[in-house]
Amino acid sequence: MSGAPSRVVHCQDAIAWLAHNPLTEGDAIFTSLPDASEQKRLAFDAWQAWFGAAAESVVRALPARSAAIFYQTDVKQDGAWVDKSFLVQRGAYAAGARLLWHKIVCRAPAGVATRMRPSYAHLLCFSRDLAEDPMQSGPDVLPELGAMTWARAMGLAAADFAVQWLKDRANARCIVDPFCGIGTALAVANRMGLDAVGVELAQGRAQKARDLVL
Ligand SMILES: C[S@@+](CC[C@H](N)C(=O)[O-])C[C@H]1O[C@@H](n2cnc3c(N)ncnc32)[C@H](O)[C@@H]1O
Repeated sequence: MSGAPSRVVHCQDAIAWLAHNPLTEGDAIFTSLPDASEQKRLAFDAWQAWFGAAAESVVRALPARSAAIFYQTDVKQDGAWVDKSFLVQRGAYAAGARLLWHKIVCRAPAGVATRMRPSYAHLLCFSRDLAEDPMQSGPDVLPELGAMTWARAMGLAAADFAVQWLKDRANARCIVDPFCGIGTALAVANRMGLDAVGVELAQGRAQKARDLVL
């Protein structure tokens, strides 16, 4: 790679973008699908269906010998626990992928009750054709999510882990985040010398994602 790594951010619907812009060799995906609270036009049940279908679209978009990592925090709704890991897995399996690993990222120290939001996030890695070597797998529990660039951001320690894995084990040269928010995954990728492509529906966030420096 010559020069500084590139960053391109498209302001549009991620599902439409994925359908019209085939990813190519060297691209890998690291993303966080939007929570129900960010999809207020949808009733909660409709959001759950959308979420699974979005995960399926993301995984279907993967090129050969690549992987997609999802960073998701569960929600509690009407007295029930809604497991986004389950929803993502349903979509990813429908797309013909396997779960290579599932890590828990602590949002609070073990043993501390957080009441409203769960005290951990999921980090889930899927591929249709790569396999994980158990002798090379890192820790299953990441003790800290790291600093956050805003309230809905991925934690930076978790993001560093995910992007490093995609670089080392999926030979990623470009990280694609189809729901990039203000661009945490893109900035982490650039910091590691990888190109980055983001998609974001909200204009203000798309602009921030073009400019974010960690
Ligand atoms: C969980 S946030 C991502 C946060 C991001 N990982 C960060 O660190 O900034 C999900 C983002 O998806 C965006 N979004 C929601 N629906 C979308 C769609 N259909 N296409 C593209 N982006 C969408 C939201 O505006 C929100 O910024």
